[in-house]
Amino acid sequence: LNNGLALKPPMGWLSWGYHECQVDCKNTTVRCLDESLIMSVADHLFNDGYIEAGYEYVIIDDCWSELQRNEFRQLVPDRERFPRGMKFLADYIHSKGLKFGMYTSLGTYTCKGYPGIRDHFEIDAATFASWDVDFLKVDGCFIKADYLNTGYIDLSRTLNKTGRPILYTCSWPYYIQFIENKMVNFEPIVEHCNLFRTYHDIFHTAGNIYHTVKFFESSYDLMKKYHGPGQWFDPDMLLVGRGLNPTKGIDSFGWLRLQMVVYAMLPAPLLISCNLDAISQKEKDLLLNKDLVAINQDMMAVPAQPFAIDPFLTIWVKPHEPKKGNMNPACSFAVVNFHFRDVTIPFFLHKYAVCEPFTRKYSVMDVLNRTFLKNITSREPIHVTVPSSDAVVYTLFPL
Ligand code: DGJ
Repeated sequence: LNNGLALKPPMGWLSWGYHECQVDCKNTTVRCLDESLIMSVADHLFNDGYIEAGYEYVIIDDCWSELQRNEFRQLVPDRERFPRGMKFLADYIHSKGLKFGMYTSLGTYTCKGYPGIRDHFEIDAATFASWDVDFLKVDGCFIKADYLNTGYIDLSRTLNKTGRPILYTCSWPYYIQFIENKMVNFEPIVEHCNLFRTYHDIFHTAGNIYHTVKFFESSYDLMKKYHGPGQWFDPDMLLVGRGLNPTKGIDSFGWLRLQMVVYAMLPAPLLISCNLDAISQKEKDLLLNKDLVAINQDMMAVPAQPFAIDPFLTIWVKPHEPKKGNMNPACSFAVVNFHFRDVTIPFFLHKYAVCEPFTRKYSVMDVLNRTFLKNITSREPIHVTVPSSDAVVYTLFPL
């Protein structure tokens, strides 16, 4: 969608992956979705280095409203959990230099049974604009393909008419392909949406990360055509900080790192969903790794090309915008290892046309460790070792 927004993959925090539909504020295990939670997320992003790293949006997902609209047919935030309303929260978030995101769904009901936007496009778009919303995630539960195909377009136009720049994220292709079992036509989707979900919800298990990464590996040809500034495939949230369900014998950190590396390379939106009060230092360091984020936010925005060595081992390669006055792109490669054993393989830059034109010498950086490795020519190998169920990533800078 050419509305001047999402020129780079959006980064931020979204409530769903960790808080889901937690509306019970007396529950002591998972904090409920309420005003104090959202303010504390804004505080963490502001105080703990996330803004400097590029994280920008604070997004409230499903389960924020009253079950009934008011007498003017407007949406009303849950009166107990959001006593000062959404404009108050928007102002708070904006005062920290952050942006505010919200959620609705194209049907009469959201996936969790709250009022959806059907038959209320104008009134709700006006409400979101009056609350100074910067980002709107629009889900698509309980609706048929015909309506998905017209509704997402109509809503895009209605949001545009408010005059407020609102980043528009659609679940349209996911529902068409996986719920309606129909072919997806990406042309109207990229014309009308900034972000679009194409695959199932990510869930906190290793298997989910595997299937999501493999799905996006198989989406490369489509992404090459349709993924870029203003229009991004969205593989759903990062699990870093959230963690995986504990499974015997599985080192969860390797899986989380693997997901983050693939999202950096795709490049995908980086939307965290976790308890920022309790995140471990090593997970935080991963999210804030400036060299990894730089791969994701590169202005050239070319999707990484996957080269499968076998079903459990893939090398992803992606060029970066050349520095001013230089013809040669920098080039990043990631090795993603789903084997339950460590793997060592050589990487030869000259085999990957996607990073042409090559220059004579490169300086190689180990991105996860943020260290200089060595200088090489494009024909010399870099031998990398990838731990079991983990990933590594290196960037080669032309010298
Ligand atoms: C389905 C979406 O895919 C999720 O990301 C989340 O928004 C839930 N619906 C909310 O009900």
